[in-house]
Amino acid sequence: MNVPVTGQPELGASSSIVILTGAGISAESGIDTFRDKGGIWSKIDYRDVATPEGFARNPRKVFDFYNKRRRRMADIKPNAAHRALARLEQELPGTFLLVTQNIDDLHEAAGSRHLVHMHGELNKTLCEACGQSSRWTGDMSIDSRCPTCSTVGRLRPDVVWFGEMPYHMGRVHAALSACDLFVSIGTSGSVYPAAGFVEEARFNGAHTVELNLEPSEGGGMFAEAHYGRATEVVPAFVDHLIEVAAQQW
Ligand code: APR
Repeated sequence: MNVPVTGQPELGASSSIVILTGAGISAESGIDTFRDKGGIWSKIDYRDVATPEGFARNPRKVFDFYNKRRRRMADIKPNAAHRALARLEQELPGTFLLVTQNIDDLHEAAGSRHLVHMHGELNKTLCEACGQSSRWTGDMSIDSRCPTCSTVGRLRPDVVWFGEMPYHMGRVHAALSACDLFVSIGTSGSVYPAAGFVEEARFNGAHTVELNLEPSEGGGMFAEAHYGRATEVVPAFVDHLIEVAAQQW
């Protein structure tokens, strides 16, 4: 079911695009989503592995959860939707910001550069002794040593847990206040503040588009929507945007 296009923005050198992605864009690369049938949160209680309280209660369980997800990444590749967003960033004039809720590095692997991970990154560790975030690709444990300050036993996954403040929010709100086009891809719209971005973009006059397998919780707030698998609807939408921009130039 697709919602008709209304109010396509000008896509010139002064245009500004904000894209939000969620777990759905990585689903066809083989990474489970969280809330779909059989999703991650149907197999493990998020309170045990994605909250500060869960980490304090049982750090080993949390390290094991993220170690398993980090190891899986060795066999995971970006898909056509990730590659389409990298192409959009390269080919469209104007300013572009990709805000992902995902902690995988598939957008980077596909070539995206103007990217922020608002929920942190699987391949990073945060030291509670020195406050530094460092790259970390192997297993992490209570015996791991901080690469910056060498303290042992104070590392945690550099992932934003429930109840914690997401990263880069100043930059995200600034981009939402100035964007002409806001596109939300592969997210259920069930977690704030990301779920509120569409309203913020609309309030600031942006054209808003949802690309998802099915209408999200905030689906009714988008001016335009295309439903289907990300590897189909995202490349098609990117082709359309590049075509519109070429006509307007
Ligand atoms: N193509 C497009 N969309 C898809 C696909 C697909 N192949 N498969 C699933 N989806 C959609 C689902 O319909 C759903 O709307 O992706 C969305 C995934 O929703 P969630 O599992 O809730 O993931 P997300 O929205 O990213 O969760 C947000 O919640 O648990 C926290 O920190 C976690 O970043 C995560 C946040």
